[in-house]
Amino acid sequence: SVYSIAALVLAYLLGSIPSAVWIGQAFYGIDVREYGSGNAGATNTFRVLGKKAGIIVMVMDISKGFTATKLAYFIGLSVTGPHASTQFVNYELALGVTAVMGHLFPVFAGFRGGKGVATLFGMVLAVNFPAAMLCVLVFVVVLLVSNYVSLSSICAGFTFPLSIVFVFHSSIKAEVLYGMCVCVLIMVTHQKNLERLLKGKESKVYLFRKKKS
Ligand code: G3P
Repeated sequence: SVYSIAALVLAYLLGSIPSAVWIGQAFYGIDVREYGSGNAGATNTFRVLGKKAGIIVMVMDISKGFTATKLAYFIGLSVTGPHASTQFVNYELALGVTAVMGHLFPVFAGFRGGKGVATLFGMVLAVNFPAAMLCVLVFVVVLLVSNYVSLSSICAGFTFPLSIVFVFHSSIKAEVLYGMCVCVLIMVTHQKNLERLLKGKESKVYLFRKKKS
């Protein structure tokens, strides 16, 4: 319907809001894509501009995915029948992934965006809260142990489909299918990171940096 198309366009535009680029330009006068890993994401903002800016970008990017996913309420209103709830999850996931596409290829920032981790997390948060919490747990543990955000993102990416199948036993096929897509998407956007990880050249991020003496 017209509403579905409007919601998808809106999801793409929401995802396209280049938080990292805009926060960097507005408050620090720099484009984070010219520094660090060159990525327009929360991690690189943290790396280049510090904790405060990184957290703001992270919250904004998570919100984009969450809000876009919840746009499903607009198109879901007219859906009734025995499969309505499954259908609804379908809409949610399609909208969430569309927002991620906006984040990767933002119309507002020359189509050079980020890797979609925070935005994907916003989507997972909206569709399956317990699975999202498990993803956070895995992310934090891997980060504290390895200090590689990319590795943590990849592990959290795997946690989503694995947990919905093996922990939460979701019978919603769309969830499983999209979960696997999320996994593949994260692997694709982290190709350079994977290469660096294998060569031992990936840059580390310390959540609690010890004061230099
Ligand atoms: O949020 C993306 C993260 O997994 C990697 O970011 O800047 O280290 O390539 P970055």
